[in-house]
Amino acid sequence: MTGPRPNDDLVVPRSVAVIMDGNGRWAKRAGFERIRGHEKGIDAVRTTVTECARLGVEALVLYAFSEENWQRPQREISLLFQLLKRFLVAERDTLMQNRVRLLHAGRRARLQPDVLALLDETIALTAGNRGMALSLAISYGGRQELVDAMQRIAAEVEAGRLSPAAVTETTIRAHLYQPGLPDPDLLIRTAGEQRISNFLLWQVSYAEIHVSDVCWPDFGAEQLHAAFRDYGRRVRKFGKVP
Ligand code: FPP
Repeated sequence: MTGPRPNDDLVVPRSVAVIMDGNGRWAKRAGFERIRGHEKGIDAVRTTVTECARLGVEALVLYAFSEENWQRPQREISLLFQLLKRFLVAERDTLMQNRVRLLHAGRRARLQPDVLALLDETIALTAGNRGMALSLAISYGGRQELVDAMQRIAAEVEAGRLSPAAVTETTIRAHLYQPGLPDPDLLIRTAGEQRISNFLLWQVSYAEIHVSDVCWPDFGAEQLHAAFRDYGRRVRKFGKVP
């Protein structure tokens, strides 16, 4: 039998983050333009979102566009945002059917008004969904997130609302882009690279890392289940003696 296997032997993490890498390599190997890899990557996004929601993942964060990605050729950036806009409209039914609540993590300043409008509309439409939270990291950088948090904290100190000694881990967490989401238990990266690439630097402190060799467009339910099985074999000590 093909298709997703039941989840009886899977340990499902509460929170999952994914660095979707290898779209360009997938396209190159197939003899296509890079953008075809991103297009095919949308199918992998849909499969991962619906399968994570079905299995009961509470929060999924997808690294869709980093702050560093602004340095890519303008044509690729435009096409990526075309795809994102299409996704934000075309996937609304899928998000609603799967009770998924959409969120955004990242800087809004460089996003075009039409992208922001569609993002905000889909966020508002899905805000009442009580299933999985899906946070799209767009124009996102982990260091930039910490800079933005520090600036807001510094402003509160300057205004006399907070004393420096009262700044704790809880304060910093409260100033992250999505403070309500649990830290990732599992960080998945595709295409074989073993790097964090400025993703969720604060939040991945104790994440288990799973590197999949397949390029993102080929990442499906089978690879997601393999990641969850790998996660299920880890002994998580959080720095303590078990
Ligand atoms: C990395 O592949 C992938 C990206 C920079 C973009 C990811 C975007 C998508 C999967 C499509 C849009 C997403 C959503 C949520 C609508 P790469 O181009 O760096 O690949 P390479 O390292 O092989 O060149």
